Amino acid sequence: MSLNKKSVDDINVKGRRVLVRCDFNVPLKNGEITDETRIVAALPTIKKLIKDGGKVILCSHLGKVKNGPNEGESLGPVAKRLSEKLGKDVKFIDDYNVTGAAATGAVEAMKEGDVILLQNTRFRGKEETKPEEAGDAFAKELAELADDYVCDAFGSAHRAHASVAGVTKFITEKGGTNAVGYLMQKEIDFLGNAVENPVRPFVAILGGAKVADKLNVINTLLDKCDTLIIGGGMAYTFLKAKGYEVGKSLLDETKVDYCKEMMEKAEKAGKKLLLPVDTVCIDSFPDPIDNPNIATVVVDADKIPSDKEGADIGPKTIELYSEAVKSAKTVVWNGPMGVFENPVLATGTKEVAKALSETSATTIIGGGDSAAAVNQLGYADKMSHISTGGGASLEFLEGKKLPGVYAADDK
Ligand code: 3PG
Ligand code: MG
Repeated sequence: MSLNKKSVDDINVKGRRVLVRCDFNVPLKNGEITDETRIVAALPTIKKLIKDGGKVILCSHLGKVKNGPNEGESLGPVAKRLSEKLGKDVKFIDDYNVTGAAATGAVEAMKEGDVILLQNTRFRGKEETKPEEAGDAFAKELAELADDYVCDAFGSAHRAHASVAGVTKFITEKGGTNAVGYLMQKEIDFLGNAVENPVRPFVAILGGAKVADKLNVINTLLDKCDTLIIGGGMAYTFLKAKGYEVGKSLLDETKVDYCKEMMEKAEKAGKKLLLPVDTVCIDSFPDPIDNPNIATVVVDADKIPSDKEGADIGPKTIELYSEAVKSAKTVVWNGPMGVFENPVLATGTKEVAKALSETSATTIIGGGDSAAAVNQLGYADKMSHISTGGGASLEFLEGKKLPGVYAADDK
């Protein structure tokens, strides 16, 4: 899918200040980065701008930042890792206000090819996340630091935040250009082609806990795909809609009718909608979630005992889903098949990942938990594309317009 937006190849940044919004929202444990995928994915755009002699001003959020600015959600560790990856100094502006004298001074001192990283944009609270309500002040301050703007934060592109979309208006006002980066282009190429132009059979696999989170994507993918596979917690609402008892399994009563509708839609359109035929049941949800000391029993999907809950797909289901993946030419996967954080309940997710690693189909992993699972299992290099966006890839697959994409200038 070609994107009719200006990209970093369409701008000449020599000697110009370029503000680049990345998604450096990486997982941290005791201040250490545990998965650097998003940092690595941002490198091509950053390197290109350095090579072209731009003054590269990077910004990103990290975490949800519910309790105001704090060291635990500082971008400090990202600046350090980025320096290592680029083999050059990345000056970190450690100011909880993000913009202001420190940032302005550092930008003034920049030479061509220099890189700085601003502090966590969500440290600005509402000004970042609700730019309209907070009067766009932050977006304007960000724009004042730069001449041009590049959005390469695919993972955040579904957020109409100041640093993702709001800033573009002020860049335009001062005569600058708003472009997208290489990561953004690559994501849209893969995800866009998969849904708009798939080589068939096109199999979509959806998992995760709640049907409510996936309503639109189920509906949209049913229009586009040949086979829709459902796993994870949301499968139990479908099983209920089929008339089965699901015991203590996760159930969204309000969505049972919706699931019925989707099953009818699939039937009418002659599409396959695959649901679990067996399930791994437990007595109660593991506490902590990764506690391996739990008893399991495998039952057919229509025989879930009233005092048990389903927590993973069973072996017959694994076989059914793996077969569907084998004969596919395009596969899109979003969401785990069970409580994959627990080693005892991760088999379904692992086996689906394995099936994807073995098929000759184009395989696209739609970010979030499924991307984490594929990475953890060491199948990352066997997939055609692993999206850096969880929520963003889901909204893209739903056919929604992502603010971070549409804020860029048209070609
Ligand atoms: C993510 O990890 O989902 C993205 O970085 C966006 O973060 P958010 O979901 O907190 O907006
Ligand atoms: Mg998210």
